[in-house]
Amino acid sequence: MPRIAQSVINEVKQLNIVDIISQHAELKKSGGKYLAICPLPNHREKTPSFTVDETKNFFFCFGCHKGGNGITFVMEYKGYDFSEAVVYLCERFGIEVKYDKTGAHHDTSSVLKNLYGDMEEYCAAALYTREGEVALGYLANRGFGEDIITRFKLGYMPKFPEIGRFKGKYGEGLLEESGIFSRGFGSMFRERLIIPIHSATGSCIALSGRALQSVEKGKYINSPETPIFMKRKVLYNFDNAIAAIKKSRSCYLVEGYFDAIRMAAAGFDNTVAMMGTAVTKERFAQLSRHAEELNLLLDGDAAGLNAMERCHEAALEAGVYPNIILLPQGEDPDSFIAKNGADALKALKKVDLIEFLIRRKFNEASDVNARFHRFDDVRLMLEKINDPYRRDRYIKLSAKIFEVNINTLTADIGSDLPQIREYSGKKSIIKNITERRFLSLLLELPAESADKVIQEIPSDYIEDEIARNLYEKIVALLDVGEEDILLHLAEDTVVGEAAALLLFGEQASADIFTEIYNCKNRILLTYYENRNRKIVNMQSMEYSALLKEFASNAEKIKELRTRLKGIVQQHG
Ligand code: UTP
Ligand code: MN
Repeated sequence: MPRIAQSVINEVKQLNIVDIISQHAELKKSGGKYLAICPLPNHREKTPSFTVDETKNFFFCFGCHKGGNGITFVMEYKGYDFSEAVVYLCERFGIEVKYDKTGAHHDTSSVLKNLYGDMEEYCAAALYTREGEVALGYLANRGFGEDIITRFKLGYMPKFPEIGRFKGKYGEGLLEESGIFSRGFGSMFRERLIIPIHSATGSCIALSGRALQSVEKGKYINSPETPIFMKRKVLYNFDNAIAAIKKSRSCYLVEGYFDAIRMAAAGFDNTVAMMGTAVTKERFAQLSRHAEELNLLLDGDAAGLNAMERCHEAALEAGVYPNIILLPQGEDPDSFIAKNGADALKALKKVDLIEFLIRRKFNEASDVNARFHRFDDVRLMLEKINDPYRRDRYIKLSAKIFEVNINTLTADIGSDLPQIREYSGKKSIIKNITERRFLSLLLELPAESADKVIQEIPSDYIEDEIARNLYEKIVALLDVGEEDILLHLAEDTVVGEAAALLLFGEQASADIFTEIYNCKNRILLTYYENRNRKIVNMQSMEYSALLKEFASNAEKIKELRTRLKGIVQQHG
């Protein structure tokens, strides 16, 4: 990814969050903020817990605990990464996208993207030259015509591509870095059918080349990893499929490029393919943001089962529970559809992946002892299931299949389930009133003033645990000069919710500086009161009287603090 210029990012951050979100949610004004039914994928709700603060340019959903600024919203809503979200907003609001000129690395990225875009076009054109006929014929043989060729921007790399043309424009170094050409060898993709690989926003970031004759090794060769191509971040055909995925709220995940292409040709537009090896947790999360139903469509042979093994952990880590659709032995989605048609594929049975794995583990074992070993595998898997209801269900199922006592298994697995937090309305989860007010004011203060305040209050002076966690996060963020404090707080479920409740639930202050000054002093006072109560009592009743008397007098409290410190040191 080329880095987008900071000035552009700043401009995007200035965009009004209500303008950004109102296109996707029905925002209703309520007090000083806006409320809506949460528009984010994967969150279905009936009563609005999605809240937007226009002045803070911040949103938070108390139902699904997602929050942040306009860019975060687009990332969540569209499944984009940061840069993609910024580019999207630039396009929507007519801001010119500019990239950083500093740093060779980032420069390389944007030029590489141009090169890959050029190559894609070049190969697409070459498909229709005389030399390309062999590839065109190959595609026709497999049943693919012009519509599919255009849709997937398929192409052909000639035996002697016009390297000179690209060398002139991009330089020899970049041609090599792209992995498309190597010095003296022309292109490793030569005489291959070219399948371009696109980013989520549709720009070409890599090529794959399929051999047109049978070869022993390297039926497909792919671009190497480059600054614009990180395999683990890519799903093939995501850019094409995303609209259909969103519309149907479901998605097919297949292994091969041609599986995805055949699926699309057969009307399953909501299909993406994995890139060779495993699908990462992040990709599963990305898909699940748009689809409720995720179907792994795998070959019914060992390779397919291996792919499933590789995938299931990442899926669990992402909190995603896919179905698996097993094809007959030796078939992949492409060959299956070519033979049996789309309806036959629709008719194939979907099985819950975890359920399938539990049964498979059981069936793998041939005797009682082996069964207990496989049961250990199942227990490990159960422990990774984060959703408490699902975990419950799979515990029941495993106990039944493996004929073990459900209570024993529940006691073993079911202990540290994550809590499900109810939408807490406007009530803050921070109980201590002074601390709650203090933090809500702290969030309102300009960073410079907040910096001064936090110098005086060590975090262990804060009693309430959530308040203390929140305070520690704020201090850490101020320490590194972070500007988007709220944004970072929102990344943490509990702290994010606490911060959002303070922001949305508390009254604005008429005189923030005076008020926070008083809050701060009350906290200091409470701290010393608590810590020194015993000593103070022992020493003299006078002190508590004094402390109360001078509760709003900072000078006096300072003086008392010094004296009390002396006493504590003496006694502690
Ligand atoms: P397959 O060998 O199952 O090929 O590899 P396929 O998708 O059925 O291809 P066709 O139908 O013969 O054209 C599955 C996927 O593994 C990757 C590719 O992504 C391929 O689509 N692969 C396979 C490679 O990257 N390199 C290879 O040499 C083979
Ligand atoms: Mn195939």
